Amino acid sequence: MQKSRVVTIQRHIVEQERLYPRATGDFTGLLWDLTLAAKSISREVNKAGLAEILGLTGEVNVHGDDVKKLDVYANERICKAMDHGGHLCIMASEENEDVIRIPDEFPKGKYVLLFDPLDGSSNIDANVSIGTIFSIYRRKTTGKEATIEDCLRKGTEQVAAGYIIYGSSTMMVYTTGQGVHGFTLDPSIGEFLLSHENIKIPQKGKIYSINEGNANAWDDGTKKYVAYLKEKDTTTERPYSLRYIGSLVADFHRNLLYGGIFLYPADYKDPKKPKAKLRLLYEANPLAFIVEQAGGMASTGKERIMDIQAAELHQKVPLIIGSKEDVLTYEKFFNQK
Ligand code: AHG
Ligand code: MN
Ligand code: MN
Repeated sequence: MQKSRVVTIQRHIVEQERLYPRATGDFTGLLWDLTLAAKSISREVNKAGLAEILGLTGEVNVHGDDVKKLDVYANERICKAMDHGGHLCIMASEENEDVIRIPDEFPKGKYVLLFDPLDGSSNIDANVSIGTIFSIYRRKTTGKEATIEDCLRKGTEQVAAGYIIYGSSTMMVYTTGQGVHGFTLDPSIGEFLLSHENIKIPQKGKIYSINEGNANAWDDGTKKYVAYLKEKDTTTERPYSLRYIGSLVADFHRNLLYGGIFLYPADYKDPKKPKAKLRLLYEANPLAFIVEQAGGMASTGKERIMDIQAAELHQKVPLIIGSKEDVLTYEKFFNQK
């Protein structure tokens, strides 16, 4: 039997960077700093049931959600791990209304980091999987200081993206545009080890993930599509199974491995003002980059997620993401008049 080789995330990142002859190692350092933050967050998440850390801090974030203590911890941990390495010129987080500048005393680098420090935070108290999502760009402005323009980008400009899922084990999944690779944290040695090389999402799945409690507020296309998934037809393997955790990272991760579709369509209660929930820059874009690298698709129903030019830091978009055939079928329903 062939023995599989043990590859740490560190080595993998270095090997990926070697594919670019002009690489300086800067990017390797950046991802390395992120894995360090991920390990600390993982440790805190694992302790959450034991420590007093559970519960609300009483603060409300920029979206009006209650902020759990772990959100605050994760946000601070990532900022502190990333602000002095000399790799970044600016950051933005779900938890901060404005961009996060690199303090004057630290060197500035050429990369931009956008992140959701803790995704699915309403699930913390119930010991359900949660995650961290990140997206990395190269700086585009040339002035002395990086600006918000460096954050307001199209997903197609991403140089790397990934997520960490704090589940039955902690995993980090990332892409630099050379496929999607997954690493599982071995807590006994504190290393992320390559466990899922070159992940490909099945072209079609049998799972759909959507908050059906919102069904009354869906557009007609989404209503018809979900009804279609529930009909019996053995050639298209319907009915599909519904799986909805309520943590985007966890719902996405399962569908990436098993195949399927995740939907968070806009709310059409006021048809003139459809309202989306998920954020373009640090939720939709990074997962869109990953799913495309794995052979899947991410769409609003009308357009490719990664083609949207961001206009605001916390801009929201409808997100339909997963297996290619499933997303294409959804688009047909959504665009039917
Ligand atoms: P966050 O915890 O970062 O605010 O994100 C919550 C998001 C996402 O994780 C999940 O897919 C979605 O909210 C669930 O929303 P509903 O509870 O409306 O279904
Ligand atoms: Mn989130
Ligand atoms: Mn969050």
